[in-house]
Amino acid sequence: MVTEAKFDVVVIGAGAAGLMCAIEAARRGRRTLVIDHAAKPAEKIRISGGGKCNFTHLEATPKTYLSQNPAFCISALKRFTPWDFLDRVIRRGIPYYEKTKGQLFCERGAQDIIDMLLDDLRSAGGVLWLATAVVRVGREGGGFRLQTARGDVRAEKLVMASGGLSIPKMGATGFAYDIARQFGHEVVETRAGLVPFMLGEDWLRRLNGLSGVGLDAEARAGGTAFRDGFLFTHRGLSGPAVLQISSYWRPGESVAIDLTPGVDAAQWLRARKAERPKAALATITAEALPNRLAERWLEIFDLPAQARMADLPNATLDAFAGALNRWTLTPMGTEGYRTAEVTLGGVDTRALSSQSMESRIVPGLYFIGECVDVTGWLGGYNFQWAWSSGWAAGQAV
Ligand code: FDA
Repeated sequence: MVTEAKFDVVVIGAGAAGLMCAIEAARRGRRTLVIDHAAKPAEKIRISGGGKCNFTHLEATPKTYLSQNPAFCISALKRFTPWDFLDRVIRRGIPYYEKTKGQLFCERGAQDIIDMLLDDLRSAGGVLWLATAVVRVGREGGGFRLQTARGDVRAEKLVMASGGLSIPKMGATGFAYDIARQFGHEVVETRAGLVPFMLGEDWLRRLNGLSGVGLDAEARAGGTAFRDGFLFTHRGLSGPAVLQISSYWRPGESVAIDLTPGVDAAQWLRARKAERPKAALATITAEALPNRLAERWLEIFDLPAQARMADLPNATLDAFAGALNRWTLTPMGTEGYRTAEVTLGGVDTRALSSQSMESRIVPGLYFIGECVDVTGWLGGYNFQWAWSSGWAAGQAV
């Protein structure tokens, strides 16, 4: 049992950001301790990217992040870039692949990234305490005193890297926000991001049986649109396009879905009417949508599936085109933190240094990773923020 331990740097949270920060601090010769309440480190890395960890996106720019202070992320992303992280992956010999342009995943699995981080921490001399609850954090002298399940710890610098609220069953807590508030920081309202939509009973009834049907679609809300995979689920809507737009959506707002993105459905239907006048509407619709969805769409919008194209007035085709290009609905809500990949909002960046992530209110206190009000798109941007912000703090602590 340790009664009182002294470290130069204590990092709370052994996730992506905390481990990166601790590696950098320890490499600079700082006596560094990482504390996590979970029994295993970096659990979110382990489950990320369907187990393959989408560890970065080579095109990470401020545009790919949401924050009340959009310029905040620039400095850290410039100083530790996606290429810098990729360089570590390559030097370690981790096989990886590019899924879509710039989106990088592990070939074998996420454990490769975790092993790299843990080996780097160990060889730099960093100490890791797992399954250790932090009960209280207070100021002492110029530094901090932490009351933990393993005894008291004194630290010159304290780094909060305990993440956001998503996936509480994996041990996510609002601890970083509590500490931020305790020391006088504002916390930008948090909400679930990169999360499936839930639909109300009316739509669920109409869409019954479509669960599992996927297609390429564009989802639009809050002045932003994403074109990507789109999936009907038994609760509502999911797939990358939906997860992306969920971060821009606010409760009560509608979402517009384009089921034939890049195709003006009105023009296309009229052209097909001219080219195949004897074909049934159902046959033509199935050229653009998966079969099950095509059938259901005609039912939902009360269209005569077996009518010949030639017999359908252009006004009917135009109305149907609207249901294809601009299907508009208001989700009942999202699945919330239970399944959200990220937490939007967080520690207000206006009181943090964008160079070092240090508090402007309490010298020696730092916030990095997901607990900060910087949230990336889907595609490896969130890990890149964890690496970049962790690295930046690691140079300063
Ligand atoms: P992170 O949550 O990783 O780490 C926080 C650590 O703090 C945890 O180890 C936790 O146990 C610990 N902790 C929490 N409260 C504590 C307390 N009170 N005391 C002590 N310790 C405490 N991103 C991406 O870029 N590519 C991807 O492929 C994916 N995939 C993905 C899948 C799923 C299912 C989810 C939920 C999320 C993703 N993400 C992602 C997002 C990504 O996982 C996330 O942005 C980073 O893990 C954030 O890193 P942090 O280090 O900030 O927090």
